[in-house]
Amino acid sequence: MKEELDALLIDIESRSFESADQVEAFRVEFIGRHGKMKDLMVQFRSVAPELKRELGPLINQVKGAVEARVAQEQSNFNNKEAVNASGIDLSRPSGGVPLGTHHPLQVVRREIVSIFKNMGYGVVEGPEIEDDWHVFSGLNFPPEHPARDMQDTFFVERNPDLLLRTHTSSVQVREMERRKPPMRIIMPGRVFRNEAVSARAHCMFHQIEGLYIDEDVSFADLKQMILYFTKAMFGKSKLRFRPSFFPFTEPSAEVDIYWGLESETDYRLTKGTGWLEIMGCGMVDPKVLENCNIDPENYSGYAFGLGIERIAMLIYEIPDIRLFFENDVRFLKQFKS
Ligand code: PHE
Repeated sequence: MKEELDALLIDIESRSFESADQVEAFRVEFIGRHGKMKDLMVQFRSVAPELKRELGPLINQVKGAVEARVAQEQSNFNNKEAVNASGIDLSRPSGGVPLGTHHPLQVVRREIVSIFKNMGYGVVEGPEIEDDWHVFSGLNFPPEHPARDMQDTFFVERNPDLLLRTHTSSVQVREMERRKPPMRIIMPGRVFRNEAVSARAHCMFHQIEGLYIDEDVSFADLKQMILYFTKAMFGKSKLRFRPSFFPFTEPSAEVDIYWGLESETDYRLTKGTGWLEIMGCGMVDPKVLENCNIDPENYSGYAFGLGIERIAMLIYEIPDIRLFFENDVRFLKQFKS
């Protein structure tokens, strides 16, 4: 009888079922009113008492195996039936994971970086939490100078001061201290200012800084580089340099491009003048070179800084700077590049 029970166990495990009806037939075959278990119990009764002790648990095991398979297969077929009834087609290929998009600021940053890379510029990044030296003092901002007020920011610690950088010009100082000229680099990054947040201003934005230092770098080189850039970036080549002031450049200028007055938007954007400011720039002040141990008698250079949000707003006609930081997918998914 033991062999019979062992064979049954193997039989039970090896059965496969194609329908709920087959499962039911299996159940009846074993544990139905006239099933195999009934016969086994009849046989068991006439078995010698010593053998009963061995065969009893085996019979229970067979019964348990049948019940377990029935329960599992029934729920399997019930699920399949529910799925069939619902009309879901599980064999259909999935739609795939929807692709994300680059953030518009990232799209513009990449575009700008690639233009400068083509001109032979390297790309460098610096820390967002800075000390006073790299953000202000090294760049020739005297301690009480009003130029500091224009770039009020968030202080992380006082004495010695640690603060969120107000411009990427801090990376200029880091790089000039770290290496020898010639150097031609751009420095993209996030900057922070204590501004009242509005459609045009935010307490956080992005800049791309540029720096070129070598022997005999002149203002003419600066102008030519900016002309090349604006042509590549905007397809515009009419420029205007307005005298300006930055403590770390001398002379300093703001660059405007002629955007035109063709459409209503152009008119609004340029306040009816046709001109748009796109960057600040100038020749690196000799004092700054000295601060960074570069001899101003041998070397000269130019620097410039442009705001990524401003350029993105121009290109995509985005009316409000706050949209960049709200992470609303309805806004973001419009920028498939
Ligand atoms: N750092 C200046 C600003 O944030 C921009 C600038 C950079 C001007 C480099 C001149 C040269 O306003």
